[in-house]
Amino acid sequence: MRAIVINEPGGPDALTWTEVPDLEPGPDEVLVEVAATAVNRADVNQRQGDYPPPPGASQYPGLECSGRIVSLGPGGRDHAWNVGDEVCALLSGGGYAERVVVPVGQLLPVPKGVELVEAAALPEVACTVWSNVFMVGRLRPEETLLVHGGGSGIGTFAIQLAHARGARVLTTAGSPDKLQRCGELGADVGINYREEDFAARVKEETGGAGVDVILDIMGGSYLDANLRSLAVNGRLTVIGLMGGRKAELDLGRMLVKRLSVHATTLRSRPVEEKAAIVSEVTEHVWPLVEEGTLRPIVDRTLPLPQAAEAHRIMESSAHVGKIVLTN
Ligand SMILES: NC(=O)c1ccc[n+]([C@@H]2O[C@H](COP(=O)([O-])OP(=O)(O)OC[C@H]3O[C@@H](n4cnc5c(N)ncnc54)[C@H](OP(=O)(O)O)[C@@H]3O)[C@@H](O)[C@H]2O)c1
Repeated sequence: MRAIVINEPGGPDALTWTEVPDLEPGPDEVLVEVAATAVNRADVNQRQGDYPPPPGASQYPGLECSGRIVSLGPGGRDHAWNVGDEVCALLSGGGYAERVVVPVGQLLPVPKGVELVEAAALPEVACTVWSNVFMVGRLRPEETLLVHGGGSGIGTFAIQLAHARGARVLTTAGSPDKLQRCGELGADVGINYREEDFAARVKEETGGAGVDVILDIMGGSYLDANLRSLAVNGRLTVIGLMGGRKAELDLGRMLVKRLSVHATTLRSRPVEEKAAIVSEVTEHVWPLVEEGTLRPIVDRTLPLPQAAEAHRIMESSAHVGKIVLTN
């Protein structure tokens, strides 16, 4: 089979489409013929050598895919998946390939009404947003969510899901066009972070109260402003470090407002934790996709051998939503 490999960390041209050894699924795994995968910021970090795959994970990039099951692992099976089933999957790596081995707990059905290729744009954003905003952040329908980077793959899904569940959504993005798209997806308030102090605007838009939950991709550079933007009992969930990993934490502000700060990453979680998230996503999120309330937001689709071009686009932040790569 062929896959995109990273022989040496570097720029987009470090991604090379190459012949690699065939794969065999183990117990409680299946082999999936990949129809499509999608690009995540983490793939860019991996390519640059800053985000190595966790132990045991494929060395090829790619944290999600859609495709068809072509074989089942050996041994007795206590799952309902069969050869020929169309699936999408959350991966620890290896999606940028013609085939990938997937633990059965990380498989999801392709939601009815979604094309197989489009379905590749869903697993990573659905699992990340559900686990952080709802399982960790416990966002309730009457509450308010601030989503940073509303035009990102993650942001476009977080806006739709929180809006669908009845929450008020504020979002930041770096251009009027992106903010307009965010509004179309359900954001109630758009804040251009290049022109406005987002914490001041959050205060203004919430009558001085602040927001209940923040989904943050910036980390260090936004920590203080995020804490200032939270309401009493507010929850900050940090999932990205695009603004650095270190900052000063004002515990006094946390004490007075009874705040909590969480930071999580999906990729390094054990298979059982991923399976629990996948199961909740299938139960709570997939019905909203099937009824058309949530859609995969695909900016563009390129052939997988053009992964380098897809990374260039992601690094320029010219995209809104997901960049999909097809076999
Ligand atoms: N922890 C996890 O499990 C997990 C899982 C998935 C993703 N993530 C993280 O989530 C983040 C988004 O991932 P993605 O794949 O969706 O990436 P992406 O589509 O490339 O999005 C990154 C976004 O950040 C925006 N941005 C840049 N600087 C900003 C700033 N100062 N304030 C607000 N927005 C800013 C960019 O657009 P504009 O500047 O043009 O607005 C762009 O839309 C990444 O940090 C990724 O590592 C974490």
